[in-house]
Amino acid sequence: MEHFLAKFAKHIKKKVIELTRLIIVISYLEFICLLKIDFWDFTMSIIKTINLNKIYDAETEIPVHAVNDVSLEFEAGEFTAIIGPSGCGKTTLLNLLGGLDRPTSGTVTIDGTDIIKLSSSEIIDFRLRNIGFVFQAYNLVPVLTAKENVEFIMQLQGIPKQQREERVLQLFEQIGLKDRLNNRPGKLSGGQQQRVAVARALASKPKFVLADEPTANLDSKSTSNLLDIMEKLNEVENTTFIFSTHDSRVMKRARRLVSLEDGKVVSDNNQMEHR
Ligand SMILES: Nc1ncnc2c1ncn2[C@@H]1O[C@H](COP(=O)(O)OP(=O)(O)OP(=O)(O)O)[C@@H](O)[C@H]1O
Ligand SMILES: [Mg+2]
Repeated sequence: MEHFLAKFAKHIKKKVIELTRLIIVISYLEFICLLKIDFWDFTMSIIKTINLNKIYDAETEIPVHAVNDVSLEFEAGEFTAIIGPSGCGKTTLLNLLGGLDRPTSGTVTIDGTDIIKLSSSEIIDFRLRNIGFVFQAYNLVPVLTAKENVEFIMQLQGIPKQQREERVLQLFEQIGLKDRLNNRPGKLSGGQQQRVAVARALASKPKFVLADEPTANLDSKSTSNLLDIMEKLNEVENTTFIFSTHDSRVMKRARRLVSLEDGKVVSDNNQMEHR
């Protein structure tokens, strides 16, 4: 009898050990899964939208669904073009990504921060520290010279004068406008203003640049020049570029193309796979 009980106890002990091991393995796997998801979220996608919607004139008889249920992820170091016909929602989407406009619904997370939840002053500060924006209509300050337009963002960021001057000169050299430093925007052509607007966005080496049709008014040489500058910054500083464009020269050099139609994403292609 005693022998039987001892055998039974040994059997139970063995089963308990096996079960404990199984529980430990399952918990470990769950932990790894959790870590992987967090790790992915934290390090890879710099910008993420979930079910993003922007409806203009929602309360009227003709509401415009400019951005329609867009869920996208952009990783650090991307060089991505948002394309599509006029009115498809490119500018609206870029404005939402940069916190310049608030969505009707959905979320925009940048580097882990839900920017919809930030107050107006927090979002201004967040943009200043992280985002360079090139507007479709340039939005240069008319009373400032080209140089001052580029410099004042760096001034707001507290960058010392000498460093500011060096960076401005370097950028104007790169965009080919060294001889226009002291011109006000009214005394620059559309293409020249556009290049100054790009220089302003790049001046403080932001983590990411959102550019709305940055080459719309440029000739082939200036377009190629500008893309060289952007690609170099992308490679050297790992700056993330998301730009809207109609320009086939720009599309060719983008590594990912996101197409919009009526506010919806209709295709999302990694061009590197086809090269
Ligand atoms: N402030 C606004 N109020 C009402 N409707 C707007 C407003 N801004 C844009 N829209 C509408 O939203 C839609 C998307 O406009 P958006 O400017 O985002 O298009 P887009 O793709 O940038 O066009 P484009 O290539 O011409 O710059 C359009 O139908 C436009 O008329
Ligand atoms: Mg636009």
